[in-house]
Amino acid sequence: MATEKWVFMVTAQTPTNIAVIKYWGKRDEVRILPVNDSISVTLDPDHLCTVTTVAVSPAFDRDRMWLNGKEISLTGSRYQNCLREIRSRADDVEDKEKGIKIGKKDWEKLHLHIASHNNFPTAAGLASSAAGFACLVFSLAKLMNVDEDPSHLSAIARQGSGSACRSLFGGFVKWEMGSKDDGSDSVAVQLADEKHWDDLVIIIAVVSSQQKETSSTSGMRESVETSLLLQHRAKEVVPKRILQMEEAIKNRDFASFTQLTCTDSNQFHAVCLDTSPPIFYMNDTSHRIISLVEKWNRSEGTPQVAYTFDAGPNAVLIARNRKVAVQLLQGLLYYFPPKSDTDMKSYVVGDNSILKEAG
Ligand code: ADP
Ligand code: DP6
Ligand code: CO
Repeated sequence: MATEKWVFMVTAQTPTNIAVIKYWGKRDEVRILPVNDSISVTLDPDHLCTVTTVAVSPAFDRDRMWLNGKEISLTGSRYQNCLREIRSRADDVEDKEKGIKIGKKDWEKLHLHIASHNNFPTAAGLASSAAGFACLVFSLAKLMNVDEDPSHLSAIARQGSGSACRSLFGGFVKWEMGSKDDGSDSVAVQLADEKHWDDLVIIIAVVSSQQKETSSTSGMRESVETSLLLQHRAKEVVPKRILQMEEAIKNRDFASFTQLTCTDSNQFHAVCLDTSPPIFYMNDTSHRIISLVEKWNRSEGTPQVAYTFDAGPNAVLIARNRKVAVQLLQGLLYYFPPKSDTDMKSYVVGDNSILKEAG
């Protein structure tokens, strides 16, 4: 390693993913091993995403991280686990143009500065931890010349936030809970790539961008400790639902997809209510959006839109095609006009080619 001062940096961008069969509950808090399989759809990387820059320099005296411009502590075990796992796989790096040479062993002594930005609300139920930890692991791997096989990186990202393991793949992704104690078979696998069902258009209705009161991590811990419904869901409901959802995705069967997605979202929120003390992630506006979509689907006779809500009030609406998406957006703007008495602020429409903000 040269003695002069230099900075070597890498930037990466990673999309968020939204679960259609939810992960809620861990059997191992340290390794982040779930109580059930889950399935998600990864959003277009240019829309809701995290951008992270990681830099290394002999001038840095400790590891530091800034999230959305504010310094955060890296002492938590999730950040430490990700940093340790990537550092242990680091390889030689050479940038001839800048005359930088970093040997495998140097990474143990060198410190990092990390700056990360989410282009969507953080800790508001739009899976910022998924995009965030996937991006952290991916950018560190690029910086340290680690083998970038998505399966390996996914297993590391899982130790930052469970849902992050699914963001290393595009399209539809399943996180298999696995059965081994060491977590080696708790992995994400791609079910279908992003081109498989490209009629679908995803609309995110940002009901509130405020940080939630109960983080996903502590919410699911309380549910595991107190909810009987969670036990029933994990053992009896989700295993069958996963098989049905895989079939629906394979056959691009929108009616089954919608039925499974909406029911699973509602059961997840029922588990939150069954938790003691109860956790309320959705608000009145969320409930009104559910009613609107349910009524519309019923009046059409066949489902047009699926809804799902993560651990927050914001709606993720999946329209069966672009024409339906346009009608849905018009309906949302009509029933929830921006600056009305509800706190609905904006809508982001994403499919493979468009991003619009309305309101
Ligand atoms: P969300 O519903 O947004 O995923 P969580 O409660 O699961 O909310 O996680 C929010 C936490 O995830 C944040 O408080 C922060 O610790 C972490 N996080 C969010 N974005 C990033 C990021 N870009 N890089 C690293 N960590 C992040
Ligand atoms: C409701 O992955 O955020 O979004 O593993 O504790 O970081 P930790 O939790 P997190 O939980 C996500 C919960 C969910 C459903 C899902 O993404 O499957
Ligand atoms: Co999260």
